[in-house]
Amino acid sequence: MLKLIHVFFILASFSSFIGRVALLQFNAELLQRKLFKIAPHIIDTLLLLSGIALVFQGNWLAGEYGWIISKLIVLVLYIAFAIMTMRSSGNKRWLAFAAAVASFILIFVIAITKQGFI
Ligand code: HEM
Repeated sequence: MLKLIHVFFILASFSSFIGRVALLQFNAELLQRKLFKIAPHIIDTLLLLSGIALVFQGNWLAGEYGWIISKLIVLVLYIAFAIMTMRSSGNKRWLAFAAAVASFILIFVIAITKQGFI
C-alpha cells in the first residue's frame, strides 16, 4: 500500500516537473499562480515522506542500505538540475532538463535493482 502511494507520488512529481517545464516554454505567466508554486512542493514533500516511511517499514537500514544513500545522492542532483532547468534559458535549460530526466531514470533503476554505487 505504502509502495503504491510512493509510486503515485513519483509519477505525480515527474509529471508536475514536465508540466512546469512545458508551461515555462509555452505559458510562463501561468507559473506565477499560487497553485503552480505550492503544489509541486507538497507533492515532492509527500514523495520524500513516503520514501522515508518505506525505509522504516522495510527495515532497510538494518541491512544493505547503500542503494538508499545512492538514491538520496542522485535525488539531490535531480533537484539541482530541476532548479537549473527552471531558472536558466536556451541551451543551458535543455541540458539541465536532460540531466534532470537522466537523474530521475537513474533513481528509478537504483530503486528497482536495489543496486547503489556506494
Ligand atoms: C524521485 C524520487 C524517487 C523515485 C523515482 C523513487 C522510485 C522508487 C521505485 C520505482 C520504487 C519501487 C521499487 C520496487 O518495486 O522494487 C521505490 C521504492 C522504494 N523507495 Fe523510492 N523513489 C524516490 C524517492 C525515494 C526516497 C527519497 C526514499 C527514501 C528516503 C525512497 C525509498 C524507497 C524505499 C525504501 C522503497 C521500498 C523498496 C521495497 O520495499 O521494495 N525513495 N522507489
